[in-house]
Amino acid sequence: MKAVKAENLTILYEGRRAVEDVTFELDEGETMLLLGPNGAGKTTLLRTIAAFHREYTGKLEVFGRKPEEAKELISYVPQSYVLNERVPLTALEVVAMGGIYRKGFVHFKIPKEILQKAEEALGFVGLAHVKDRLFRELSGGQKQRVLLARALMSDPKLLLLDEPLSALDPSARVEVANVLDRIRRERGITMIITTHDINPLIELGDRVMLLNRRLVAFGRPEEVLRDSIIKSVYGPLAKVIPVEGRLFCITGDAHFHQHGGGGR
Ligand SMILES: Nc1ncnc2c1ncn2[C@@H]1O[C@H](COP(=O)(O)OP(=O)(O)OP(=O)(O)O)[C@@H](O)[C@H]1O
Ligand SMILES: [Mg+2]
Repeated sequence: MKAVKAENLTILYEGRRAVEDVTFELDEGETMLLLGPNGAGKTTLLRTIAAFHREYTGKLEVFGRKPEEAKELISYVPQSYVLNERVPLTALEVVAMGGIYRKGFVHFKIPKEILQKAEEALGFVGLAHVKDRLFRELSGGQKQRVLLARALMSDPKLLLLDEPLSALDPSARVEVANVLDRIRRERGITMIITTHDINPLIELGDRVMLLNRRLVAFGRPEEVLRDSIIKSVYGPLAKVIPVEGRLFCITGDAHFHQHGGGGR
């Protein structure tokens, strides 16, 4: 059984097509890097797989089920996570919330077993030492790792991450990429990760999808990351350079060839 299977998937907003005719399959345990310029439909595709958006035609299955019937298997971390930072929650409490909302009860006191699981999850992302610090006082990279720990609380089989590296400096990007690599290797969770900067994540990608409303390319990184393919989306200045046996992708200004009214 495939973790994700899409056949001629077209996604619409009130009848208007945002993503057109996408076909791909992802095996269990694989990580897919989802690349594309602003407005390409990356968030739209993720939200549809997560069953937050339901207007589509064609076939879409998550572990052989319709997305809305697979919700308990999926954890989704949105593009810009809006956590009310006026509420002074500790890192541990933010992680624990991932175990509480799922169970659907209003809480006044977090159950002990959930706190314990949250501590383990924080340890997994290398942040056991900040558990009692306020979330809002953490660095950007630490916040993103806390959100990853929180997403793991429901033991998902599919993790959907929308731009987990955006707004992070290069060293924080590496920090978060290392945690994503650990999730892939040690937990075997299937992941779809959207990103504008594929370079820190290239080694995690079993599959790369280049989306620009339509599917431009889908395959192994070395199949998709070719000059001709990258230039067709990002323009003539885009380039793929092998550096010490590793591909390095320069996409330049993501706004170069933007079609339609995109943006966040
Ligand atoms: N809620 C919505 N209602 C109507 N149209 C939308 C909605 N969300 C997105 N769109 C449109 O769908 C298209 C794809 O947008 P989407 O946000 O999925 O792109 P993206 O690849 O995630 O872009 P970015 O890189 O800026 O995050 C855009 O044309 C956008 O305007
Ligand atoms: Mg987006």
